[in-house]
Amino acid sequence: DVVGAVKGRSVFVTGGIGFIGSHTVLCLLEHGYYVVIIDNLDNAVQEAYRRMQELAGDRADRMKFIKADLRCKPDIEEIFKEHSFDAVIHFAGRKAVGESVQQPWLYYDHNVLSAINLIEVMREHNVKNMVFSSSCTVYGNPSKVPIDETHPLSAVSPYGRTKLIIEDIFRDYAEADKGWRTILLRYFNPVGAHPSGKIGEHPVGIPNNLMPYIQQVALGQRPELSVFGSDYPTRDGTCVRDYIHVMDLAEGHVAALDKLFRTPSLGCVPINLGTGTGSTVLEMIKAFEEASGKTVKYKLVPRRQGDSVAVWAATETAEQQLGWKTKLGVDDMCRDQWKWASQYPKGYEV
Ligand code: WQD
Repeated sequence: DVVGAVKGRSVFVTGGIGFIGSHTVLCLLEHGYYVVIIDNLDNAVQEAYRRMQELAGDRADRMKFIKADLRCKPDIEEIFKEHSFDAVIHFAGRKAVGESVQQPWLYYDHNVLSAINLIEVMREHNVKNMVFSSSCTVYGNPSKVPIDETHPLSAVSPYGRTKLIIEDIFRDYAEADKGWRTILLRYFNPVGAHPSGKIGEHPVGIPNNLMPYIQQVALGQRPELSVFGSDYPTRDGTCVRDYIHVMDLAEGHVAALDKLFRTPSLGCVPINLGTGTGSTVLEMIKAFEEASGKTVKYKLVPRRQGDSVAVWAATETAEQQLGWKTKLGVDDMCRDQWKWASQYPKGYEV
């Protein structure tokens, strides 16, 4: 079988057709890994995989996609019987905060049940190396910024609670079985797209997040952006976030895998992936206007419930533990996102 033949270099990537997963898979291939992807295509489309194959070129023969659902444990067992994985990167899951408040059952089913199935099959096959896609949302409403990994953990939505539950499962496993090596990567705000402009974020329906919404206004697909709150105690009254380029994020996952393979008794380690700097909503609008040459019409509206004033990462742990830090700035993020948007205004819809 083409995948998993090389010891120490084969990775099972769940949700690998999604926004962050697809960019990370290409990066893994560039670093010589063999990759098997599982994705149920709930929030991703087959066309994205076709584009990944195009971009992978002759490396595509080290990549394999299996359409399946982690909620079906026998399917996972089948995959683990056929392949010998050295590690897992777990992206798969739903991630819309608002949706999680309205329909929490979706999140306990898709996020928690899937994770439990996956981890049990891993244990049965003695695969105990995991890089987990966590989120800065596990810090709740931060009491101070920059946020480091010792900041207290709390959930401010069912989505955040599912991330926290899965983190706790890994912490308990690591306590009980020193054979487990887990890195919990806590992302801040992933944005941008592959520099080729062939793959990028493809939100279905009305975008919850800021940058995809700005993109659709710039494309003339939406009349204007609502800026949620302009009376915050920040330099221009709008919220501050730590936006990180998805290409930097992808490299962060490879750095985490390398760390995991070279650290025998790693345990369960949380690591922030952010730039360490914050940008306001108005600054992001301006940066996107400069990158696109388009006007982004917006109106100032009341605050969105649940938003924190300011969130940005302390980046020392990633630098010390992974020897990784971000290379790309907001201008790069907006330039690459605009290239994706202007080349493919309808994303993966063909
Ligand atoms: C960013 C800023 C909004 C939309 C979310 C999740 C978090 C993580 C990253 C998964 C905020 C403002 C937004 C709009 C606006 N996802 N905004 N108008 O809320 O920081 O984080 O995505 O792990 O878990 O919570 O990102 O992009 O929704 O908002 O003014 O139409 O943009 O108020 O200040 P957020 P966001």
